[in-house]
Amino acid sequence: MLDGPGGRRALNAIVAVMVLGFLGVPGAAGQVSSTLAGNPMSGERLFAERGCTRCHAIWGVGGVLGPDLGEVGLGRSLMQLAGMFWNHTPRMIETVRSHGFEWSTFTESDLADVISYIYYVKLYDEPGDPTLGARWMKEKRCSECHSLGGAGGQVGPALDGYAQYVAPIPLAEGMWNHGRDMRAMQASRLVPVPRFYGNEIADIQEYIRRASRLRGRTIVLLPPPDPARGERLFRSKGCASCHGASGRGTSFGPDLRMAIQQLRVSEITGELWNHSARMTEAMEERGIAYPVFERGELTDVVAYLYYLRFGETEGDARAGKAIFTIKGCSGCHDATSGSTVGPDLSRSEVVGTQMGVTTAMWNHAPSMYEAVRQAGIPWPLFQGNEMRDLAAYLQELRSRHALEGR
Ligand code: HEC
Ligand code: HEC
Ligand code: HEC
Ligand code: HEC
Repeated sequence: MLDGPGGRRALNAIVAVMVLGFLGVPGAAGQVSSTLAGNPMSGERLFAERGCTRCHAIWGVGGVLGPDLGEVGLGRSLMQLAGMFWNHTPRMIETVRSHGFEWSTFTESDLADVISYIYYVKLYDEPGDPTLGARWMKEKRCSECHSLGGAGGQVGPALDGYAQYVAPIPLAEGMWNHGRDMRAMQASRLVPVPRFYGNEIADIQEYIRRASRLRGRTIVLLPPPDPARGERLFRSKGCASCHGASGRGTSFGPDLRMAIQQLRVSEITGELWNHSARMTEAMEERGIAYPVFERGELTDVVAYLYYLRFGETEGDARAGKAIFTIKGCSGCHDATSGSTVGPDLSRSEVVGTQMGVTTAMWNHAPSMYEAVRQAGIPWPLFQGNEMRDLAAYLQELRSRHALEGR
């Protein structure tokens, strides 16, 4: 029963609820817009249909022959993940052959969807540690002002109500919305403004859930994060006026793509708080109204911030040219050297986009694999931005050829 796609999905949903308290793994969020590369919801479907779950788990659910894709590749961009995806073709080719399966090919948008899904599942962090949470609340002196489970100060509101959420984002949302008055109170009572590192907010949330006296709790599950709505909120709340379109930064606010690189969701919410005092000042100086979030809105903004790195695609064609030689591609694909083993890529129709290059390589992998084996050269592997730069070079090669051909 659990082996069918439906059972798998149900289990996935349970895992996600345990993990971050959203309403199921991506499942219900079909609304991701096309401005974000790939659609994780279709990716989830393809991931099951193409048999990836036979070998790969997401957060412990699924096959065990390959690595758990909920854990690998955190914070990697689309093209970086595409490189990782390519690296495992030999393994896949061998498996497919030994089982007599067909090589599954992808269209460009299908592959983008699958990779987008692998990226999306990492939005779900691990739950916090309540013991550590108790310690952070004491060290950061939250309890001097807030009561929880009947104990603690009465200066600020009791925090018990937050126990109805599994995810830590509503807590971060409450702090952001009340940030100004909370900081003023902290200043007047000589309590240092708290800063959060790593998973601390998630730890505190988990502790609140343990220690709260909230009775008759109905657990509130948030809808799955929707980065496309987050993108709209990022503009409508005024964030873009300082951080620029796509978070690229302006002279009034830093480039967020760099700042939040490799961060998990609870870390992003921590950074948001850590910088909120300076941001409040900057908003006052520029006459921008302090944005308050309705319940759930911050989840989507954070999901959007999380996706900022994903679509990053500019490549360095010059570095790509070197990679083309170093990885041995030129040995089979360089028309000028007279090699005819592989097609002349400057005339190839498929290298017009970055995902096009990756998709074509994946689809041709089995024949390339044969050619590479016969030539006795190692299978080319990609690290960091190599795939992106290589694709930029091939794109340039093609457009140069198109110009010359006119
Ligand atoms: C027959 C088992 C098997 C199947 C089916 C399979 N994989 Fe893999 N995959 C592996 C193994 C094993 C690895 C470890 C790397 C290696 O040995 O090449 C891996 C590695 C990966 C990696 C890189 C992870 C890392 O840590 O670098 C990605 C991404 C990936 N697989 C995605 C997929 C996708 C998407 C599908 C479905 C289209 C898929 N895999 C199907 C076995 C499989
Ligand atoms: C010096 C006292 C003080 C300390 C220390 C303090 N807070 Fe607060 N906090 C307040 C006050 C006062 C408010 C209400 C501000 C307002 O009315 O806008 C508040 C509001 C909040 C809210 C929004 C509450 C709601 O439900 O509306 C949250 C969440 C919160 N604090 C969490 C924390 C956490 C977590 C810590 C420790 C890391 C902390 N606070 C430390 C005084 C404090
Ligand atoms: C008035 C300009 C302004 C607005 C509006 C603004 N920010 Fe900022 N933001 C800044 C500045 C300046 C910093 C750096 C603050 C510092 O150094 O502590 C910053 C820092 C950040 C950081 C931390 C970056 C890092 O280096 O770790 C995040 C995340 C962030 N902002 C997100 C947002 C979001 C989300 C919004 C909208 C709700 C927003 N900002 C609105 C000016 C702004
Ligand atoms: C040992 C020879 C060999 C090496 C090395 C090699 N390829 Fe290939 N490549 C081929 C062959 C043969 C084909 C055609 C496969 C087919 O028709 O299915 C091909 C096909 C392709 C295609 C699809 C072209 C199209 O128009 O459909 C791309 C893109 C590609 N290779 C890129 C690369 C890159 C990038 C490298 C270096 C990382 C590389 N190849 C290394 C032999 C090789």
